[in-house]
Amino acid sequence: MKTELLLKNAAEIETELLAVFAVDNSTSKEKDAPQQLVLLSDEQAFTTAALAVLTSGEFKAEANETLLLHAPAGVKAKRLLLVGLGKAAKITPHDVRKSAGTAVRFAKPRGIRAITIALPSSDALATQPTVRAVTEGVLVADIDPDTYRSDRKDRSVETVTLAASSQTDRAAAEAGHREGVILGESQNFTRFLVNEPSNRMTPTILGQKAAEMAREQGLKCEVFSTDKLHELKMGAFWSVSQGSEEPPALIVMTYEPEGVTDGPVLGLVGKGITFDTGGISIKPSDGMEKMKYDMAGGAAMIGAMRAIAQLKPKVKVIGIVCAAENMPSGKAYKPGDIEIAMSGKSIEIINTDAEGRLVLADGLAYAKQLGATHLIDAATLTGACVVALGMVNAGIFSNDEDSYQRFSNGLKTSGERFWRLPLEDEYRELIRSNIADIKNTGGRWGGAVTAAMFLKEFAEDTPWIHLDIAGMAWIEDQKPWIAAGPSGIAVRSIVEWVRSYSH
Ligand code: BES
Ligand code: MN
Ligand code: ZN
Repeated sequence: MKTELLLKNAAEIETELLAVFAVDNSTSKEKDAPQQLVLLSDEQAFTTAALAVLTSGEFKAEANETLLLHAPAGVKAKRLLLVGLGKAAKITPHDVRKSAGTAVRFAKPRGIRAITIALPSSDALATQPTVRAVTEGVLVADIDPDTYRSDRKDRSVETVTLAASSQTDRAAAEAGHREGVILGESQNFTRFLVNEPSNRMTPTILGQKAAEMAREQGLKCEVFSTDKLHELKMGAFWSVSQGSEEPPALIVMTYEPEGVTDGPVLGLVGKGITFDTGGISIKPSDGMEKMKYDMAGGAAMIGAMRAIAQLKPKVKVIGIVCAAENMPSGKAYKPGDIEIAMSGKSIEIINTDAEGRLVLADGLAYAKQLGATHLIDAATLTGACVVALGMVNAGIFSNDEDSYQRFSNGLKTSGERFWRLPLEDEYRELIRSNIADIKNTGGRWGGAVTAAMFLKEFAEDTPWIHLDIAGMAWIEDQKPWIAAGPSGIAVRSIVEWVRSYSH
């Protein structure tokens, strides 16, 4: 998909389909209060063309509700698509991100290959974040996960024109568009990596994809395997990979902006389990196919590094992905085994299905060895996090208020949702081992927290954030603005967090 920005009155644009946003201006909370539907455009032509339907009561401008008019009078477009944003009082650029996606997903199956979106005009919607959100929304909406269907019918929308009125601040609109393209494409790159099945996205292939991306974007990237894991004494990471015929990949991407010689060094560490069978503590077969997405945290870091390479914040960033396949075999690690992590800590393996925290333990230690002063990790780490937060919020943990605040502030821009969970010392008891420094599971209760407590032991005193994206990295049911399948969660928020350190 190509997106372009056009400063021209939307009613004057010849296009297959023109999307215009609608809100309900009424502030009454009463059930049967009359609606006050308004189109978010300065051009009277749209309201005139849509007047009959706006007053009919059949369209309510609810979020992501759509209504199509053919041959609208007084408008050059062939079709006018009204897209609801909900109550005017509450709208944010994130609502516009979703509704813009809804317009694309409306057009896609109908064979409409070029659409125009009238950028919404409202005091609540500043130009730059709104143009950015629309751009991200349309790019994300265009992707469907049916890569290997031979009857793949619905092709992409080829062109989306973003029509801004001629009074729009051009510089702000252009900046928003540029950022939106970078973030939207990077999120889609992550989704592509996650969507591939494990036989086509082995640790080695994931390393190749990262290296290819890095070459295109001018990042430094090194991909190591077994020998390097042994050399670095990454006993925890290695133990997970040892049961598989597929060699592990330690992916290290470096972004070093010119002229930045001091200040923080950010370490981004991703869990890259390309398939999680559970190992000897094998998972039930029902739903196991989903465990191809157990590398979504790693893929988020690769997507984030892609965006960082283009946005060029003034801060050094190191991206590390610990990629391995967790398999049962005659060579596999077993419950009861003791592994020595890179940091020197001894770990008693209780359950080989708690593998993510093992690869991350060494990833975090390595990031610190490479000079990271601030850490963030992302992982599809625990089913317990899904139990706690469902599929609305991802989990976030942090040992540092300033890091957490930066991340939290960025959520207003990214539109993603993370909910903070605790990390108190009392939980440490649950992962105490009788034979080693720590054990890799904490029993039945508070599973997302004990997993995070395990990681905290390896972050040590370094400011650190842990993102548990298990419930959010894969969308079970499609939404009007995004297909079912990989979501690309965390890319946008991680990038905002990184940008907060730019100096
Ligand atoms: N990859 C899983 C977590 C997961 C669950 C991701 C559901 C996506 C959806 C992780 O490696 C795992 O197996 N965790 C175990 C930990 C347990 C053995 C302590 C879990 O959550 O059951
Ligand atoms: Mn597991
Ligand atoms: Zn896993």
